[in-house]
Amino acid sequence: MLDLQKYDIDMWEEEKITAFRQKLLAWYDEHKRDLPWRRTTNPYHIWVSEIMLQQTRVDTVIPYYERFLDWFPTVADLADAPEDKLLKAWEGLGYYSRVRNMQKAAQQIMTDFAGEFPQTYEGIASLKGIGPYTAGAIASIAFDLAEPAVDGNVMRVVSRLFEVDLDIGVPTNRKVFQAIMKILIDPERPGDFNQALMDLGSDIEAPVNPHPEDSPVKEFSAAYLHGTMDKYPIKAPKKKPVPVYLKGLIIQNEKGQFLLEKNEAAGLLSGFWHFPLIEVEEFVEDQLTLFEVAESEATYGPTPQESFEQDYDLQVTWSEVTFPTVQHVFSHRKWHIQLLTGQVKESKDFPDREVLWLSPDDFPAYPFAKPQQKMWDAYQSKNE
Ligand code: ADE
Repeated sequence: MLDLQKYDIDMWEEEKITAFRQKLLAWYDEHKRDLPWRRTTNPYHIWVSEIMLQQTRVDTVIPYYERFLDWFPTVADLADAPEDKLLKAWEGLGYYSRVRNMQKAAQQIMTDFAGEFPQTYEGIASLKGIGPYTAGAIASIAFDLAEPAVDGNVMRVVSRLFEVDLDIGVPTNRKVFQAIMKILIDPERPGDFNQALMDLGSDIEAPVNPHPEDSPVKEFSAAYLHGTMDKYPIKAPKKKPVPVYLKGLIIQNEKGQFLLEKNEAAGLLSGFWHFPLIEVEEFVEDQLTLFEVAESEATYGPTPQESFEQDYDLQVTWSEVTFPTVQHVFSHRKWHIQLLTGQVKESKDFPDREVLWLSPDDFPAYPFAKPQQKMWDAYQSKNE
């Protein structure tokens, strides 16, 4: 067991711990939100909800959750899902590696656990893409195991209860919060205890517009009693995402169809369909005079448009219409996309590449990631 004293944390006496559990759970019983994944103990359903809730807010998750279970009602269905449908089910949520890992974990359940969801913490944690938080959430909510589920919200609440002077952004510090929670968690109702803390952290102690005076456990919180709520949790500022500059090409053929291609590279947005994108150094040409443009082209070779035409063996008439820059922030990168639109007179097919001419009616059948949706919205707002 970790020595909490070493971290300047004074753990409470047994009596105080019991009182805390009672207060928190009484509040949860009265105020908990009625959510679809709170009406089940099916570990598969809880798993799906927990992974989705790592991406976005509860209100956004509900329709995704319901559609996902409609499309893939069992672990076996998820294990067998075709890639396009899998990505479509996740479209707009981001972090698509999570849903790919879910499918791998589903396949693991089919092969290593004879199709039955593992019922121990270790078994659950052995699944692809399931870390300590998700394993704890599933173990406690579906199987009543006294396992903590420590996410950012829980760390915020706990850091204030004990005035924990450790940066919650440093991964190795998580073990300290885990150890505190292992002591606090109610062994009778571990799933409700974990979810009560999550609710507390996402509402009353939310990062924006908190109202800590309404907390059912404020008299247990050292930071509340000492007026240091603003100091906790300790968190170093995030590094800025690296800017990436791209030209996004929206090309139409004589039938009004648009050119789209599948991203076959591993990594970010792999498997998604997108308008052709060309990475450039920066958007310098906007500020250059005509003479300088000629100079820079001489220095840097073909323009992105020319490279594209060579690569796809197409002749494009480019339009002069300009669009506001489309921006999209990933965790470590920020994309700045300048749209260029064009028309081809004679389209050709690409039998040996994953490149298609699609009409907007076809789009719903293909997975599109957020940046492409933003590009399409920007394009349409000028063409309506
Ligand atoms: N955030 C993550 N998991 C949650 C849950 N089970 N209930 C509410 N919010 C959550």
